[in-house]
Amino acid sequence: NLLLGGAAAGAGAAALVGGDALLRAAGGGEPAAAPEPPFGGRTVAFHGRHQAGIATPPQAHARFIALDLEGGTDRGAVRRLLRLLSDDAARLTAGEAALADTEPELAHDPAGLTVTFGFGRGLVERVDPAAVPEWLGPLPEFGRDRLSERWCGGDLLLQVCADDPVSVSHAARMLTKDSRAFARVRWVQEGFRRARGAQPAGATMRNLMGQVDGTTNPAPGTPDFADLVWHRGGGGAGAAWLRHGSALVVRRIAMDLDEWDRLDRPGREEAVGRRLSDGAPLTGGGEHDEPDFEAVGALGFPVIPEYAHIRRARSADPAERIFRRAYNYEDTEGAGLVFAAFQADVTRQFVPIQRRLDELDLLNEWVTAIGSAVFAVPPGCGPDGFVGETLFA
Ligand code: HEM
Repeated sequence: NLLLGGAAAGAGAAALVGGDALLRAAGGGEPAAAPEPPFGGRTVAFHGRHQAGIATPPQAHARFIALDLEGGTDRGAVRRLLRLLSDDAARLTAGEAALADTEPELAHDPAGLTVTFGFGRGLVERVDPAAVPEWLGPLPEFGRDRLSERWCGGDLLLQVCADDPVSVSHAARMLTKDSRAFARVRWVQEGFRRARGAQPAGATMRNLMGQVDGTTNPAPGTPDFADLVWHRGGGGAGAAWLRHGSALVVRRIAMDLDEWDRLDRPGREEAVGRRLSDGAPLTGGGEHDEPDFEAVGALGFPVIPEYAHIRRARSADPAERIFRRAYNYEDTEGAGLVFAAFQADVTRQFVPIQRRLDELDLLNEWVTAIGSAVFAVPPGCGPDGFVGETLFA
C-alpha cells in the first residue's frame, strides 16, 4: 500500500521509495514495508443480470478456449453441458472446488476468477435455428486479413480470466474436462497484462508495441456503456434470448515487432496519434484529454496524421463504438494482441470500424489479423439457472 500510494503521488516519489526499499532489503534482509495481503481470496460474483468478465476490470491473465460440439451433441445435450459448466463456473469463481474436482486445493484462491460463455453460430443453430442473430458467424472478408483456420471460429467460447495464472489453469482444466463428452477443443489463446499490483489499479494497459492501449473506451457502469455493450433483445423475434447479453469479437492480431523496432519514436507516435510516454494525444494534454483532430503543425500538416490509428478508428457516429478488453499474447511464433471487443451488434459496431482500418491505418504496416471469431454472449443467470437458459425458453 505504501508503494502504491507513492506511485499515485508521483512517479518520481515512487521510484525513490522503491529504490530505497530495494536498498534496505538488500542490506539488512528486512522487508521494507508490510506485505500486501494476498488477493487470492478475492471473488467476482458469477450470478447476475449480465455475465461477469465483461464489465469486470480486466484481470492479469486470460485464456480464451473455443470448443466445437461433437456430432452427437443434440439440443438436450447442449443444455446438459451448459448446466454442468455453469455449475462448475459458479463454484470455481466462488473459490470452491467443482463437483468431482480432482485437485480441489487449486480452487481455493480464485484471485478474481471469471468465466464468460460465448456461443458460436453452430451452438445456437443446434438449439434453435430461429434464434441465430444475423451477425453471428464469420466476419465479412477484410483485404488485409491473413487468417489461419487454427485461430478461427468455434461453437462455444470460454473466456477464463483471473489475477493468478494457476487459477486460470485450474478452472480451464475443470471446464474442458467436463466438456469432453460433448465437445473438443478447437483453439486456445493465452493472454496477459501487467501482474496485479505492478501498477496502480485502473492504469490503462500497454500492449507489446509499448503503446498505452484502451484509453478511449466506454466506461463500465455508465449508461453509455450499457447502450453500446448490452443487447436489448430487439432485432427480430429470435433475438429476445440475448437481452442483457452482448456480442464478442475475438481477433488474434500478430505484431511485427522486429519491423516496429526499426521505426523512430516520432514515427511510432504518428502511427497511433498518441504519445508513447503517457498515451496523451499528439495535440497535447493528458491521457484522457480529447485529441484535437483539427490541429495543424508549422508546415500545415495535421498533428494527428490523416491515417493515424485513432483517427481511422473513430467514427462520427457515437453508436459506432465498441468496448475493447484486449490481452497481450506471446508464443514461439510471435507476439501480438488477443483483441477482444464487446458490443451489442457486430454488424453495426465492429464491422464498420474494421472496414475503415482495413482500408487505411498506419498501424497496418506492423499488425495483421491471423485469427477471427464471433460469439453471442448470453445474459447472466441466477443461482438456480444456467448461462444460456434463455435460448431454451
Ligand atoms: C485506439 C492500438 C487494433 C479499434 C487505439 C490506441 C492504441 C491502439 C494504442 C490508442 C489508445 C486507446 O484509445 O486505446 C491497437 C493495436 C492494434 C489495434 C496495437 C492491433 C494489434 C484495433 C482493432 C480495432 C481497434 C482491430 C477495431 C476494429 C480502436 C478504437 C480506438 C483504438 C475504436 C479508440 C479510437 C478513439 O480514440 O476514438 N488502438 N489497436 N483497434 N483502437 Fe486500436
